[in-house]
Amino acid sequence: MSHRGKFITVEGSEGVGKSTNLDFVARQLQAAGIDFVVTREPGGTPLAEDIRQLLLTPRDEAMSELTELLLVFAARAQHLSEKIEPALAAGNWVLCDRFTDATFAYQGGGRQMSDVVIGQLQSLVQGDLRPDLTLLLDAPVEVGMQRASRRGDLDRFEREELDFFERVRQAYLSQVEREPGRFAVIDASQSLTSVQGQIVDALTPYLSANRTPTGES
Ligand SMILES: Nc1ncnc2c1ncn2[C@@H]1O[C@H](COP(=O)(O)OP(=O)(O)OP(=O)(O)O)[C@@H](O)[C@H]1O
Ligand SMILES: [Mg+2]
Repeated sequence: MSHRGKFITVEGSEGVGKSTNLDFVARQLQAAGIDFVVTREPGGTPLAEDIRQLLLTPRDEAMSELTELLLVFAARAQHLSEKIEPALAAGNWVLCDRFTDATFAYQGGGRQMSDVVIGQLQSLVQGDLRPDLTLLLDAPVEVGMQRASRRGDLDRFEREELDFFERVRQAYLSQVEREPGRFAVIDASQSLTSVQGQIVDALTPYLSANRTPTGES
């Protein structure tokens, strides 16, 4: 019987370096000989990726905030049942670009929807499942905006004002206060070398705990 895998999420506002560092974490896991799956939210399965398109693509008809919230959790329910849960159960680690903290940050902080309602959907969709470790890449909003240097076709979220992203950042930091044990807050305003050094520090205890004496599995 294999052990259940670890569930690691990477979070943060626009352009802070989530995808870059998700790749970095993947390389660390690979070097440690861990079997893992890389995925993202919203999305991660064909159906959930279709829901992602609904969420991101601007259209003439306004999307109500509740519709947006339910679509986020609909995609998550699918992602969990078809990909995340089976992978963890098979002993693979799951490395996910954004998860429910992003819902508290974007729909809760950004759109100012009720954290109580989001928490209820979280319980409904996930039960007790939470990431084992969340790397929160934190930086002033302007830093991420500058790095991402958005131009051309902006998606429904990228069209938001600076205030929206300030609330996103603050909501992420409030999540850390609620569940400090689960988070590693990374100062993402630093150079990539420094950021990756911080990530190695956060990962090391998880990687060493995974090392089992020869013969055991
Ligand atoms: N610490 C860093 N210092 C300087 N540049 C960085 C750093 N981290 C990432 N970058 C650069 O910033 C840009 C955005 O990074 P990345 O795409 O990883 O961010 P993201 O958080 O995934 O963005 P998005 O919100 O669009 O998904 C990339 O060009 C990347 O090379
Ligand atoms: Mg990204």
